[in-house]
Amino acid sequence: MRIPLLAICLAFLAAGPVVAGDASSQLAVNVAGDQIAVVDGDENVLAIIDATARKLVRRVDMPGKPQCVTWLGESNRIAVTIYDADAVHIVDAASGDVTAKINVGDEPYGLVTDLAGQRMWVTLDYPGEIVEVDVASQRVSRRLQVEPFLRGIALSPSEDKLFVTGYHTSRLHETNIGEWRVVSKWDGQPSDNLCRSVVVNPKGTKAYLSHIRSRTHVIHARGAIVPFLSVCDLNANAEVRRRGIAMDTYNGVYVTSNPWESAVSPDGSKLVTIYAGTDDMNVSEILDDGYREIKRQSIVQVGKNPRAVRFARDGTSLYIYQAVDFAVGVYDAATMKRTASVSLGSPTRSPEYRRGKELFNSAKPPMSNARWVSCSSCHPDGQADGRTWQNPEGLRRTPSLAGLAHTHPLHWSADRDEVQDFEYTIRGPLMGGKGLFSGKIKPKEGHNAVELEELLTGKSPDLDALSAYANSFGFTLSPHAAGPGQLTPAAERGKQIFFSNQTQCATCHSGPYFTDSRLQKPYNVHDVGTGDPDDKMGPRYDTPTLLGTYRNRAWLHIGKAATLDELLTKYNPRDQHGKTNHLSPSERADLIEFLRSLPYEPPPTCTPNTVQINK
Ligand code: HEC
Ligand code: HEC
Repeated sequence: MRIPLLAICLAFLAAGPVVAGDASSQLAVNVAGDQIAVVDGDENVLAIIDATARKLVRRVDMPGKPQCVTWLGESNRIAVTIYDADAVHIVDAASGDVTAKINVGDEPYGLVTDLAGQRMWVTLDYPGEIVEVDVASQRVSRRLQVEPFLRGIALSPSEDKLFVTGYHTSRLHETNIGEWRVVSKWDGQPSDNLCRSVVVNPKGTKAYLSHIRSRTHVIHARGAIVPFLSVCDLNANAEVRRRGIAMDTYNGVYVTSNPWESAVSPDGSKLVTIYAGTDDMNVSEILDDGYREIKRQSIVQVGKNPRAVRFARDGTSLYIYQAVDFAVGVYDAATMKRTASVSLGSPTRSPEYRRGKELFNSAKPPMSNARWVSCSSCHPDGQADGRTWQNPEGLRRTPSLAGLAHTHPLHWSADRDEVQDFEYTIRGPLMGGKGLFSGKIKPKEGHNAVELEELLTGKSPDLDALSAYANSFGFTLSPHAAGPGQLTPAAERGKQIFFSNQTQCATCHSGPYFTDSRLQKPYNVHDVGTGDPDDKMGPRYDTPTLLGTYRNRAWLHIGKAATLDELLTKYNPRDQHGKTNHLSPSERADLIEFLRSLPYEPPPTCTPNTVQINK
């Protein structure tokens, strides 16, 4: 008994004071505890708040979408990942000056630093890498490939391990920093999804992951989306390595949805999780018993669309970033009462966009009476959830909403012609909401596209706001492009093949959005041999845009093509979907390289097929 105890003491001494390791978030408190940094990826801003005076000190405009923020050790410098600038920017908190711009690679998302502020580690979303940056030299020192769509990242208290999460798998990976390799992983269930953060307790023995389960066979307001907490036992010999705890109800009554992030109190006694769909927070006692793990204590109402939560370093306060309020709420950690709300100032986005964002993210009435599901549960920030859903008409893969304003009509079967038609989704079985206007809508009869006959634009400001928000998403340039406006030699060859008369790809995938979708009826829909005999609305489908197709985890409306090569071969046996059978393997590889490079230049913001929206 004695020797292990001594060893534990020594280990603590060696590691210095017991401080939880850094974990990525869009809100960070500095070591002294007197300043808070927070970023907003819709407003493209970094805000610095005086935690003592509870006042906004300054705002710094960011040249793109900031994702996560951290303080560099005890210094007064802040590091920010900027997703579409492929960089980490270092900002001097006192002056607001950007003192360094470090290129780290495509789509930097999560970010942590060591206590000394000497090294940072960044997750790259689509590329799926961890990047180590030496702060003094502003250089990338090492890279490690983990899995595509890597988001959450946390540093162990002993600063020798990194824990990262797969966004679409909720898989946890442990990386040994010294050996620079993944040494262990904790798989989730196949339905586990949208895991954007992880926190480790101060002892370094457990990791807590908040995420949802996308239950793709249940299209129902009370079962399609379930919030989960996964507790991973970091002990190598643990009998049960990972436990999933459903967080959908509190005391079997109160429903929460869209867990965005969790935080552990500095003494390791409490775990809080915020819910971006229901605007509330769970407070749990950490039991750490290897069995129940947590005991839920209370539910606290917080501001609108909470997206980040962090404890003050001394554990007395809790800070929550409430994105739709554009404010940081300050809560007393003992009573969980709100003691202040610090506004980040005037937002730059229009009131209509912001109302649309609020509705899109909300799982509360009038969007849903059951409170489980919001639009954002499947289309977070307009991105796809990486899933194919068993809809009543057949299997349907969730598309990204990027470029939506230029690619109407909507749905794979072109059965909707305005985003306002999603009033049918809101009132239907998936969301079970009251809807955004009080009049009747034509009832659905079987799978007839009655939505095309109903004109819902202009019916209610809320419905129009939802449409303005859904139509606002753009693309980031493909990481596969050689550079802005440039293709690799292979992609250049593939481009010739794509536009050739032999393949005929561009007859349907035409124009700057690579689709012949148009606002005028009759809509272009095509049978390209991909219909499923059980599909109630096939076999003719709307041509999908190919911009951003590299991000798909599977292709075609039912997600059956696992790779683009399969799409061109196995799923095009009779040359119905363009002509591909004559292509040699190397020609196919070139064609695929071209498809994966899209977009390699920004598409036009206005075409003859662009719907009119207010930004
Ligand atoms: C359970 C997951 C889920 C929820 C919740 C959800 N969607 Fe979707 N969404 C999908 C799937 C799957 C598709 C593809 C369906 C199809 O094409 O028939 C889709 C398609 C769309 C499209 C068409 C995109 C295109 O390019 O054609 C839009 C727009 C959209 N959804 C908006 C919304 C809005 C607004 C809400 C909330 C009112 C919402 N969705 C709720 C899964 C979901
Ligand atoms: C006759 C019109 C037509 C032609 C020609 C055509 N496509 Fe398509 N394409 C479609 C339609 C319609 C779909 C949707 C089919 C489905 O989902 O089942 C599609 C789907 C795709 C997808 C999947 C996109 C996604 O989001 O899942 C890719 C990639 C694609 N096409 C590439 C090509 C290439 C490469 C060629 C040339 C070899 C080509 N297409 C020729 C109409 C066409």
